Amino acid sequence: MKEQVLVLIKPDGISKSLTGYILTRLSEAKLELVASRMVKVSRKLAERHYKHLKGKEFFEEVIQYSLGAFHPCKYVMALVFVGEDAIKKCRDLTGATNPEEADPASIRGSCGRITTKGVFENVLHVSSDIIEAEREIKLWFHPEELIADVFPTKITKVKSTRKRVWA
Ligand code: TYD
Repeated sequence: MKEQVLVLIKPDGISKSLTGYILTRLSEAKLELVASRMVKVSRKLAERHYKHLKGKEFFEEVIQYSLGAFHPCKYVMALVFVGEDAIKKCRDLTGATNPEEADPASIRGSCGRITTKGVFENVLHVSSDIIEAEREIKLWFHPEELIADVFPTKITKVKSTRKRVWA
């Protein structure tokens, strides 16, 4: 089935200069890259992204990690891929959540680590299923930032918005 998937290269992946390596590994899945964006993650965005983890003892560390608090590069690269079985293909290349349990040849297995505080620095995020993928893509991207119409859109009038433009 043709699917969309959100991939985030997390601050450890960016700080370790793994961006090119990760894109090369993910290209093995032969999917179409329809959006990419460097994002300075706000606390609100991180909390909405990880809302399913609220209440877990590691929640605050995961939020801090996403904000870049533990790494020199305090941003993430957000990507949207489209293609047949896109979620499974990306998750297989990525490996298990816990980098020490991940297949050593997977991206997380070869590049991730667990910190002394127990945070899984697992280099990238990949949507877990099609429902989450849609929720996450709509959270991280505006429709015009994707080069393909992956979800239905509508035109709405937005009154008195403030927008940064080139000076
Ligand atoms: P989760 O959504 O369960 O996994 P995945 O990213 O593989 O879909 O968890 C989100 C993040 O929370 C995960 O990437 C790393 C962190 N995490 C921990 O630090 N400790 C844990 O025990 C778990 C389950 C997750």
